[in-house]
Amino acid sequence: MSSINWDNLKSEAKLAMAKAYAPYSKFPVGVAALVDDGRIISGCNVENASYGLTLCAECSLVSELIMSGGGRLIAAVCVDKNGDLLSPCGRCRQLLFEHGGEKLELLTPEGPKSMAEILPWGFGPKDLS
Ligand code: THU
Repeated sequence: MSSINWDNLKSEAKLAMAKAYAPYSKFPVGVAALVDDGRIISGCNVENASYGLTLCAECSLVSELIMSGGGRLIAAVCVDKNGDLLSPCGRCRQLLFEHGGEKLELLTPEGPKSMAEILPWGFGPKDLS
């Protein structure tokens, strides 16, 4: 989608990354996304002394999506502590898929890719109907 301002999304993801609570891994992550009503939302990882309870940045993003009014994710950018593009973990691909479906675009080092490419044959709400 040519109208997506990827530079702005990446900047917002970096701002979110700077807010991360990652005292254990020391690996802050930030994510920003464009919602179908035009708003920009973001999230960061929030770790826990019980390591397995860590919330990835994408969890925080999805909470922000719902708390700020819902909608569908159109485009997303994840960054690591250096501000480089980050590949979302498997669980987070599932989270993004739930709220953006196959058409959600994710920025990768090879350019934007759809969730259909990032999570092929993904399990989603349609599979429950
Ligand atoms: N992390 C994310 O926030 N998102 C991902 O997609 C991959 C991993 C976080 C979890 C943990 O706080 C840190 O990165 C190191 O794994």
